[in-house]
Amino acid sequence: MKGLILSGGAGTRLRPITHTSAKQLVPIANKPILFYGIEDMAAAGITDIGIVTGQTADEVEAAVGDGSRFGVNITYINQPDPLGLAHCVLIAADFLGDDDFVMYLGDNMLEQNLSGFVDRFVDAQRSLSEPRLLDGPGDKAVPSAQILLCPVPDPSRFGVATIDAAGHVVDLVEKPADPVSNLALVGVYLFTSAIHDAVAAIEPSPRGELEITDAIQWLIDSGRVVSHEILEGWWLDTGKKDPLLESNRRVLESLEGSVRGDVDERSTIDGMVIIEQGASIVNSHVRGPVVIGADARVENSYVGPYTSLADDCIIRDSEVENSVVLERSVISGVPRLVDSLIGRDAKVERSDLRPKATRLMIGDDSSVGLV
Ligand code: G1P
Repeated sequence: MKGLILSGGAGTRLRPITHTSAKQLVPIANKPILFYGIEDMAAAGITDIGIVTGQTADEVEAAVGDGSRFGVNITYINQPDPLGLAHCVLIAADFLGDDDFVMYLGDNMLEQNLSGFVDRFVDAQRSLSEPRLLDGPGDKAVPSAQILLCPVPDPSRFGVATIDAAGHVVDLVEKPADPVSNLALVGVYLFTSAIHDAVAAIEPSPRGELEITDAIQWLIDSGRVVSHEILEGWWLDTGKKDPLLESNRRVLESLEGSVRGDVDERSTIDGMVIIEQGASIVNSHVRGPVVIGADARVENSYVGPYTSLADDCIIRDSEVENSVVLERSVISGVPRLVDSLIGRDAKVERSDLRPKATRLMIGDDSSVGLV
């Protein structure tokens, strides 16, 4: 079993952060989103992983390297233009060969780990493809693909599946205007080599992409079996700010606290708090769940709950809650910063406690909420 992680795409819904950085490298609880997928594959015993990159290839390669720090081997495959998820399979054909593989969308975050999902597919392949079944009706039950589904309130934003009374996947439609079910395709798929014929046979969708949803439908139309499981636990497509903050909250809730930095005697720490080496907390209150990166400084401030401060941030005379702040940014004199995603090397500063004006230098696609 190989792994294929898709880490291209423009990340338009996370601009301006993604003008300068890959959406899959935005950190959740101070760890890039992409790393969760790689670690999950490694934990499921998948060590031969292809990563499809787009325009942010250099940054993704610099962050992930050869995979040795995760105990895996990484092969990079570049997709210069975002031509669709099925197109990724097409260009990864040499890497994938005839092996079964799990395909994982690099901006999806799942609570459920991959191991059980992968094991059940492998078991089905083994038990159902034994010779005694090859000529019998049982042969048809060997799945060529296994998909993961999740009931959602807004299915028209996703690929949507219809399941018949016998539990078979009978119909898949990408972003239907009138969804016939509420079962969305989660960004994790298992395939046998049968998918290669499918991705070569389909035509681009109205959005100009080769859709993996259409390729799986092609398998069904060709008489292949597509099995499914219903996802357990939460799943978030982190491509927008609010789901990203929600992922941050969920992951922070699952961590264990540890304090390696300095906390002075005037500061208080409550709940799950991780303070990395070299960070200092001065005359402040940190209310978990919170993670504070290496060499960050929190001074005369209140931080938390549900906040991740990356390495080398400075929070001074401010309150920060339910927010993600990336490396080296400075928040100073801000009475209450909430529900915010702050990029790298950004400054949010206020010099007067009752400002008469707001002075801004804001990049394209920024969003400022003065509430
Ligand atoms: C893609 C798939 C869609 C799936 C979704 C999951 O959508 O095309 O079927 O439900 O990922 O995140 P996209 O993110 O390309 O809009």
